[in-house]
Amino acid sequence: MSIATPLRYPGGKSVMTTFLKNFITANNMENVCYAEPFAGGAGAALNLLINRSVDRILINDANIPVYSFWESIVNHSEEFLYLFDNTPISIEEWERQRNIFFNNDAQFSVELGFATFYLNRCNRSGILKAGAIGGNSVEKQQQAKYKIDARFNKESLRPKLEVITNLRDSITISNLDAIDFLEQCQNLNNEDKESLLIYLDPPYYVHGSELYMNSYIHDDHQILANRLRATTILKWILSYDNVDEIKDIYRDFDLYTFDLKYTVQTAKTGKELLTHSQNSVLPETREISRATRSIPLIRI
Ligand SMILES: C[S@@+](CC[C@H](N)C(=O)[O-])C[C@H]1O[C@@H](n2cnc3c(N)ncnc32)[C@H](O)[C@@H]1O
Repeated sequence: MSIATPLRYPGGKSVMTTFLKNFITANNMENVCYAEPFAGGAGAALNLLINRSVDRILINDANIPVYSFWESIVNHSEEFLYLFDNTPISIEEWERQRNIFFNNDAQFSVELGFATFYLNRCNRSGILKAGAIGGNSVEKQQQAKYKIDARFNKESLRPKLEVITNLRDSITISNLDAIDFLEQCQNLNNEDKESLLIYLDPPYYVHGSELYMNSYIHDDHQILANRLRATTILKWILSYDNVDEIKDIYRDFDLYTFDLKYTVQTAKTGKELLTHSQNSVLPETREISRATRSIPLIRI
C-alpha cells in the first residue's frame, strides 16, 4: 500500500487501510462516510478515499496547527501550493517557519498550516516540537549525513498534495474536540449514522504527551469511553497503545492486540490494542489477515 498522506505521523495508521476496507465489507456498509475524530496524518482516511472504499472522509483534529494544515491544503489549495513551490528548504527558513508555528495566536491561517507541514517534513520523526533533521545550526547541517531536506522531496510530495486538492469535494475538515465531534455524529439522522464509520485513534495513553501537542490525561480517556458507550447506531473502531489502564477502561468490550509493524509470523501479543462498537463485526481472523495482507488481530 503506498502512503497517500503527506504528513509524517508518529503512530500513523495508514497500515490499517485494508483492515478498515474489510470491516466495511463485513458489516455490509454502503456509500460510506468515514470519519477520523483524531485524524493526525489521516493516512487511512486518504487511502480509503483514493481507492474508493468510501465516498467521503471527515478529518477532525483538535490541534490548531494540524487542523490548519488540512484546512489549507483542502480549502486554500492555491495559496498552500504557492508556498510549497516557493519556500526554500534550509535551516534559515526552518527558523522562520518555526517562528510562525510557535507564535500562531491559536487561530487558523494558511501560513500556520504551511509552517506545520514544513516542520513535520523537516523535524526528526515528524515531531513538531523536535529539532531539525541534521541539527539546528548551519554548522551541524554541514556535517550531517542526513540534512534538513532528507524527508522533504518536493518532486514526490507535490503529487500527494495534488491528489488531496483534486479530492477536496469529498473531504470535510473540522477542528473540534473529539467528544464534540462524536456528539455531532450522534445527532445525525439514522440513515446518515448507518453509513458512517468512525475510526478513533486517540493520543497514546503512555507516550501521548511526548508525541502530540494535544494529549489526554486518564480522565479524558475515561470520558471518551463513556461517550462511546452512549452512542447508538454509530459503528466505530478504536485503537490504542496496549496498556492495562485502557484494557481496564474497555474491559466490557471485545479486545484485540496487533502490531503496526508485523511480520506474518508475528509475536503473540501486539503493542497496539483494538476494540469496536458492539453493533459491528470484525472481519479479521489470522487466516483472512494473511490472505488480504491486513493486520492480524489477536483476541485477548
Ligand atoms: C495518535 S494521533 C492520530 C494519528 C492518526 N491516526 C494517523 O494515522 O496519523 C492523535 C491525534 O489526536 C489529536 N488530538 C489530541 N487530543 C484531541 C482531542 N481532544 N480531540 C481531537 N483530536 C485530538 C492530536 O492532535 C493527534 O493528531
